[in-house]
Amino acid sequence: MKGVTGMKPKILSICGSPRKDGNTAVLLHEALKGAGDAGAETEEIFLLDYNIGFCDGCEKCYVNDGRDIGECSLKDDMTSSLVDKIYHCDGLILGTPSYWSNVSAIMKNFIDRMIVFTYDRGDCGPAPRLKPGRKAMLYVVGAVSYRVSSFGGVHYLPFQAMNCICTFANIDIFGTQRKLLICPELLPQGNLTT
Ligand SMILES: Cc1cc2nc3c(=O)[nH]c(=O)nc-3n(C[C@H](O)[C@H](O)[C@H](O)COP(=O)(O)O)c2cc1C
Repeated sequence: MKGVTGMKPKILSICGSPRKDGNTAVLLHEALKGAGDAGAETEEIFLLDYNIGFCDGCEKCYVNDGRDIGECSLKDDMTSSLVDKIYHCDGLILGTPSYWSNVSAIMKNFIDRMIVFTYDRGDCGPAPRLKPGRKAMLYVVGAVSYRVSSFGGVHYLPFQAMNCICTFANIDIFGTQRKLLICPELLPQGNLTT
């Protein structure tokens, strides 16, 4: 098995829950373990452990300067560490709890800062800086399943938020089917949807 770099593939799990022993963490840990068992190099990332400032919207990074990564004006753990890890990975496993039918604030902040992997192409919207090849799996964990929710696709927005940045950054979503998993034995506090 070879990654985009021609070496062993590197897979990162990125957890957007503030609870490091919560359901999202359990799920991502299992998914990452699967990647490891299949021969990938793996790294488990909890966004909570990183100092990531809010995107200030300066759009300095959003200029088409031909670089693979836009230059962010903020200097924090996103610029010094996470962006580099993402640049050098082959796959991402992104996970967030559903918070009021959206991603957690921690995940949203991370998504906003991923703008460095895009640039402005005018009226056509953001263009990707990254070459194709990276893939992502998205997980949303919630206490409310599709079946009992009066909102129907209650987990739609968190998926869409993560899907949006991956698409604009040229990171393909792995698989197109959404599946509802109900795993009370694994996740006593909630159901989960991938
Ligand atoms: C602020 C907040 C908002 C929540 N909103 C939703 C929601 O809209 N839909 C849902 O299914 N669960 C919702 N939940 C429940 C969590 O998604 C659920 O408990 C999940 O397992 C938490 O993930 P964690 O165990 O990784 O922390 C909410 C929980 C919190 C704390």
